[in-house]
Formats: sequence, C-alpha cells, structure tokens
Amino acid sequence: MRVTVGVSGGIAAYKAAELVRALQKQGAEVHVVMTAAAQKFIQPLTFASLTGHQVLTSLWDDYWSAETTDQNGIQHISEAQWTEALVVAPATANILAKFAHGIADDFLTTLYLATRAPVLVAPAMNVNMWEHAATQDNLELLRERGVRVIDPGAGALACGMMGLGRMAEPEAIADAVLSALGRRHDLAGEIVLVTAGGTREALDPVRFIGNRSSGKMGYALAEAAVSRGARVILVSGPTALHPPAHCEVIKVTTADQMRHAVIEHMVEATLVIKAAAVADYRPVHVSDQKLKRTGPMTLELAPTEDILAEVVRRRRPGQLIIGFAAETQDKLENGRAKLLNKGADAIVVNAVTGDGVGIEADSNAATFLTLQTAIELPLMPKRSLADRIFDEVLTLRRPKALLVEFGESGDEKAKQDAVLKASSAGDAATEADEVLISSAAGSRRQLIVE
Ligand SMILES: Cc1cc2nc3c(=O)[nH]c(=O)nc-3n(C[C@H](O)[C@H](O)[C@H](O)COP(=O)(O)O)c2cc1C
Repeated sequence: MRVTVGVSGGIAAYKAAELVRALQKQGAEVHVVMTAAAQKFIQPLTFASLTGHQVLTSLWDDYWSAETTDQNGIQHISEAQWTEALVVAPATANILAKFAHGIADDFLTTLYLATRAPVLVAPAMNVNMWEHAATQDNLELLRERGVRVIDPGAGALACGMMGLGRMAEPEAIADAVLSALGRRHDLAGEIVLVTAGGTREALDPVRFIGNRSSGKMGYALAEAAVSRGARVILVSGPTALHPPAHCEVIKVTTADQMRHAVIEHMVEATLVIKAAAVADYRPVHVSDQKLKRTGPMTLELAPTEDILAEVVRRRRPGQLIIGFAAETQDKLENGRAKLLNKGADAIVVNAVTGDGVGIEADSNAATFLTLQTAIELPLMPKRSLADRIFDEVLTLRRPKALLVEFGESGDEKAKQDAVLKASSAGDAATEADEVLISSAAGSRRQLIVE
C-alpha cells in the first residue's frame, strides 16, 4: 500500500506523525507532503525520519532529487501516479477551500488535482471556522466529488473553545484510509445478512402499495461489508440498482417473501442488518383482474409480520441484530422505543425529512442507538455511512470487562485509578466507557474497559 499523507498548517499537525506510524503498522509505505504553513508547526525532519523518505515541501525545491522524480522530472506528477491514497491530516479550512476551487499553488494542492487515487481529508480547526458557511459549502463540494471527509469530533479545542473541530484520532484516520483502499478486513469471518429496498404489496395484477425506498442504504452496507472481508447475503426488494459484486443476492417482492428469505438465511448469518423498508400493511383482497374505476373505493388492509421482532426471537447466541428506523418526527424517542420493543442490539435511526437526506437520497445522517449510547453519524454519502455503521457494530463485538463501580455522582479519582490499574495490566483502558445503571435502589456508575 502506497499512501501519501498531506500535512497542512494546523495545531493538529503533530498528530500526523502518529498517523504515519499507524499507517506503517498496517504495512503501508508512506510519503509525506507538507504545506509551508505546516512547517511552522512541525519540522519535515520528523517525517523524513519516520518514513525514510524525503518530505515533499515545495513545487520548486530539490527539483532533481533522484528519489521521487520520474524520467521527466516532474515530481508532483510522479507522486500523483505513485500514490494509492492521498490523506490530508490535518486539513485546514484553507486547504479545503483550495481543493474545492481547484487552486494549485503548492505541492499538495497540485498533487490533489493531479492524482486519480482516492482522497481523504481529516479537517481540524476552530469551531467557528468549521461551522462557517464557506467551509461547509467547500466540504459539500468535495464530498460530491468523491472526497472522503473524516469528520472532526467535538470537545475542547486548542484555541480554548469547545465544539466541533478536533481532528479525528490518527487510528480512525488510518482505518478510513485502509477502507478506501479496500484493505480493511475487520469483518473477515462474519456472515452478514443485509435487507435492502422497499417491498410491494399487490392490489391487482398491475398495481401495488409500495414505498419510496431506493435500496441505496442497504446496497451501500452490502458493498462495505464485502470490501471489509465479510460473506454477504443481500435480500433485496425491487430496486433500480446493480447489486455489489461478490454478494449472494436473493430478490423478493413482498413483505412475506422477504420474511421467508430472512428467516431461511439468518440461520447461517453472524450479523443481520435490516435496512429494508418493509410494508407494515398489505391489502386483504388482491383482485385477479385489473381494478376498474367505479367511483370511491376503500381498501381493507391487514398488518404484515414484524420481521425484526421474529429475527430477534430466533437469534442464536452471538448473533448481532441491527434494525433501521426511518422517522418523520421525535426521531430519538421513537428509535429508543423501537430498540426496547424489538430487543435488537442497535437501531440506526434516520430522519426522513426529504431535502437530500435519507430515503431515495445519496446521502444520509443517522443516530446509532444502543441501550447505552446514541452516536450521531452526521450527513455523509451512504457508502461512508455504511462504513461508520460497521465501525459502531464492531464495537458491540468487543469483549468488555467490568472494572469498578462508582457512587451516584461519579468519583473521578476512582475512575482514574481503575484506568491506571487496567493500563498496567496491559488492557486498552483508553477505551473505557462509563455507564449509568438506574434501579429502584438508586443509581450507580460502572466503568467498563475493553
Ligand atoms: C497558531 C495557529 C494555529 C492554527 N491552527 C489552524 C487550524 O487548526 N486549522 C486551520 O484550518 N487553520 C489553522 N490556522 C490557520 C492556518 O495556518 C492558515 O489558514 C494557513 O494559511 C493554512 O495554510 P495551509 O492550508 O497551506 O497549510 C492556524 C494558524 C495559527 C497561527
């Protein structure tokens, strides 16, 4: 794997060194390109020492360096052809603007225009810069052009403000790079059953009751699971999409056919993700002949089977069950109610408001809901969202060990002691989750580490 890390001028530039390390650990050969501003924050020598390669800092300097120049000596073109993925971390507001508008006035921006490799950006900046309409519009443009945006997290920023703008963790950025290269195999060994698309309930030989589901979310999930090494069974309602390569596709039309296919194939699945929009009702009477217009008509409808509830009832130990909920109002309340009623491991709740989000659209935003957590997954292309959903699903597979119980108010000292104890025992204590348990006897906090 040949990866170019672009470093632009933000305080998080030092974290690019950790990213280089994380990529190298995964077997990547890494080149580093730095903007002039980035060199104010960290020396090229750091990256040259880590990578063993000359750091590319200018379109003009070291022009005849033997290492990265091709026969024609045009270094940014040879780098553009050499690289299999360009990842910019941190990506400043300035570099995002230049990428979005095709400005090519230094090595990194020229390389961006010249390469056909996948491009990823990990923005990092002050919250007001992040929220500025100019930055958000630039990001939108870049997303539309296929650039993968690794969204920043929220928290205390270097500038002293709180909010969105902290660069994603280097390990997460490295994972996204591997995923873009199709090299992440963290679903190897899983058999993933995905349902996708809408169902159709016949009224007569030519008419049906259906819904607007395009199947794009389910197909994106199937594609992501295949690229991460899973065997995938895709149970699909009618859609206009081509199924992703290397999936076993079972085509169905009605809710009842979908139920049969899911029940039959869930036996072999280790993970069931129900992204299909299944009809809740079907007509009680289906006419053999095409219905004629004879005046007002009342349809009598009967409820269909609840497939998710049945899947949960039939689950085997270790099998993960993830449902989807499309909500037009009270998204989180309704999602949480569905999670509790159905007994799934998680529910992916998405608002269906029209305006380019959710049903039929290419992008989606969602909340990944479990009994303990509500992870916001912001607006992004459905393929990227599919990867983020699998990232969260995989955290459900992590073995957890209970470390310590706190009092009602949460005792920070006890928590730190527990984390230290786990660290010295070699556990990944940085992954500690704090969980609030409430019962009639009162509430208490537990710290759980990987
Ligand atoms: C101390 C300091 C910290 C900065 N941190 C950031 C930052 O985190 N994110 C950002 O977008 N810009 C930041 N900037 C502004 C950029 O460095 C500036 O926009 C520069 O032109 C970026 O150039 P580049 O995109 O070519 O690297 C910072 C500037 C200074 C002086």
